[in-house]
Amino acid sequence: MDTMFSLKEKTIVVTGASSGIGKCTSIAISKAGGRVVLIGRNEDRLIETFNKLEGIGHSYYTFDLLNFSEIKSLVSRIVTENGKIDGLVNSAGVESTVPLKVLSYKNLEETFKINVFSGIELTKHFSNKKNFSSKGSIIFLSSVMGSLGEKGKIAYCGSKAAVKNMIKPLALELADKNIRVNSISPGLVMTEMTDKLFASISEQSSQDIINKHPLGIGTPNDVASLCIYLLSNSSRWVTGTDIIIDGGYSIS
Ligand SMILES: NC(=O)c1ccc[n+]([C@@H]2O[C@H](COP(=O)([O-])OP(=O)(O)OC[C@H]3O[C@@H](n4cnc5c(N)ncnc54)[C@H](OP(=O)(O)O)[C@@H]3O)[C@@H](O)[C@H]2O)c1
Repeated sequence: MDTMFSLKEKTIVVTGASSGIGKCTSIAISKAGGRVVLIGRNEDRLIETFNKLEGIGHSYYTFDLLNFSEIKSLVSRIVTENGKIDGLVNSAGVESTVPLKVLSYKNLEETFKINVFSGIELTKHFSNKKNFSSKGSIIFLSSVMGSLGEKGKIAYCGSKAAVKNMIKPLALELADKNIRVNSISPGLVMTEMTDKLFASISEQSSQDIINKHPLGIGTPNDVASLCIYLLSNSSRWVTGTDIIIDGGYSIS
């Protein structure tokens, strides 16, 4: 039995690798023996992650996922330079608090482009047999907010609900290729996204959110550990499912 969740000999692509959950997951993948391909917009922050990786053979690519039409050539470049991949973690995401009366099409479009469309496009091109090894795992970051509601979160909740359901048809379509597709729905995890959220609401509201997590709020490491399991062969029979990891938030 694979008890160590080894990622030896595996090449894993991680978006949102310059910050928070994506950064922590990239480091955890390298500790589990995998090679990591980091994607993010901010080069300095990507290099910061890159310098924390263990082992050799890692690489990074600065790329704005809003450049949807260039995703196909990014995928070709990555595979040409790193070989076929064994896994993809779609961690890049944006979150904003925009009430209905000021919600614009632009806000909705940007949120869905990054949180939903870019991951589908990456999955479409990476899952081509030229680009993916004989089996592997694709992870999307959804959120407990994909099942719950909060004022001002129409775009975010809508996008995360889309993520946790679209993995089901993706898993069915990719099962023949031995590619598993799952999503993770975290509760509140302390990252820059959470810092920005707390800065946009009152101290009392922030405390109320924290208090709703019976086990307290999470760390990026909590989510990274689940990613390692889902990327490893130990989860070979897990596909098309959304896994909630929220310190009890959604049961309280
Ligand atoms: N933190 C939480 O409490 C929480 C809870 C539930 C779900 N999630 C989900 O988990 C994922 C990671 O969240 P996080 O807290 O780690 O976020 P974070 O610290 O704010 O990091 C967001 C990442 O997304 C990247 N990104 C944003 N827009 C991009 C674009 N246009 N092109 C390329 N990369 C882009 C950022 O890259 P740059 O730094 O280069 O801009 C950054 O690496 C997100 O999908 C989020 O919705 C988070």
